[in-house]
Amino acid sequence: MSILVTGGAGFIGSNFVLDWLNASDEPVVNLDALTYAGNLQNLATLQGDARHVFVRGDICDRALLDRLLAEHRPRAIVHFAAESHVDRSIHGPGAFIKTNVDGTFTLLEAARTYWTGLADDARRAFRFQHVSTDEVYGSLSADAPAFTETHPYEPNSPYSASKAASDHLVRAWFHTYGLPVLTTNCSNNYGPLHFPEKLIPLMIVNALAGKPLPIYGDGLQVRDWLYVRDHCSAIRSVLERGRPGQVYNVGGGNEMTNRDIVQAVCALLDELQPDPAGPYNRLITHVKDRPGHDRRYAIDARKIEAELGWRPAETFQSGIRKTVQWYLANADWVRGVQSGSYRDWVAANYEAR
Ligand code: NAD
Ligand code: TYD
Repeated sequence: MSILVTGGAGFIGSNFVLDWLNASDEPVVNLDALTYAGNLQNLATLQGDARHVFVRGDICDRALLDRLLAEHRPRAIVHFAAESHVDRSIHGPGAFIKTNVDGTFTLLEAARTYWTGLADDARRAFRFQHVSTDEVYGSLSADAPAFTETHPYEPNSPYSASKAASDHLVRAWFHTYGLPVLTTNCSNNYGPLHFPEKLIPLMIVNALAGKPLPIYGDGLQVRDWLYVRDHCSAIRSVLERGRPGQVYNVGGGNEMTNRDIVQAVCALLDELQPDPAGPYNRLITHVKDRPGHDRRYAIDARKIEAELGWRPAETFQSGIRKTVQWYLANADWVRGVQSGSYRDWVAANYEAR
């Protein structure tokens, strides 16, 4: 038995693969195109481990998918591979349509063909797990109830629209073909191995380098933050016990404004690695807002709690402390990901703001 993971060299996927192989000996076939966001350094501790088979390739490559499925005969696919950064989707939406929509379609079709050819028992046990985001539901007003699984889809960015499209395809492959799919819609993750283009790791690495901490607009946008390993445990619960065709919302119950997040990161850095030049929050700068910036996301996670008994293990306080400590202990990893293409992105997104 094995599972096929897509996007397992990215932030959440690599945390998932590491957690998976920590808890079980079931092999993982890890298909990742190694875009700017994929980093084999994340998986360095698995070097020489026969339980981890890494394949560099694109989820849009149908022939490759057919070959991998035929060769490894996985009992499940856990689909993380995506273009995932909202700001990049504003600068260049095409890659998001290609990977998130075409790629998910191609993977669904390859999975359907493979699943159709399985023997009865294996067919019944097979699962296609699609990892998605709360951003598909759009933006909430300050006092609106949190997103449930039946909240209307109202995506506002090219990223969330492409993820919404992929969710719809996954749903249709269940209803039309009976492919046993599971979908999770999760809130913002943070934790180790997070590429420093997203809010929390960007603030940590910029603060340590004495660079400005750019808050978009008024910084009062609200996100519901979840420690990445809690997301991974939710995915494992859904894979094991979720009902095919169902959607599960996953969240941390930690609604916070961006301003409060940045202040919390600064306060922890002040404690753990004080800067002789003064408190880190002196570096906060307000920059031009993101176009179409969603104001608030919040997850109602009662379904996954009630049906599957899943709960996050970390509070925001414990998770953010682990995260900041990880970045302090892994300066080499940060240097490694700050490659030429990363520097080009910083110039494109921030210098003209
Ligand atoms: P990420 O950008 O860090 O990683 C994405 C990975 O997918 C990278 O390793 C990249 O190389 C790979 N990839 C991209 N295009 C590919 C392609 N065409 N073929 C094969 N591999 C490809 O993203 P992440 O933050 O780890 O997110 C993983 C998944 O979780 C995504 O589907 C995302 O929508 C979803 N999600 C993310 C968050 C979050 O806060 N980061 C929250 C909820 C859901
Ligand atoms: P991000 O980490 O990009 O996740 P998402 O857009 O998927 O929620 O951003 C989280 C929040 O932080 C979002 O409201 C945008 C804001 N933000 C900033 O204020 N400054 C920044 O430099 C970045 C990257 C994000």
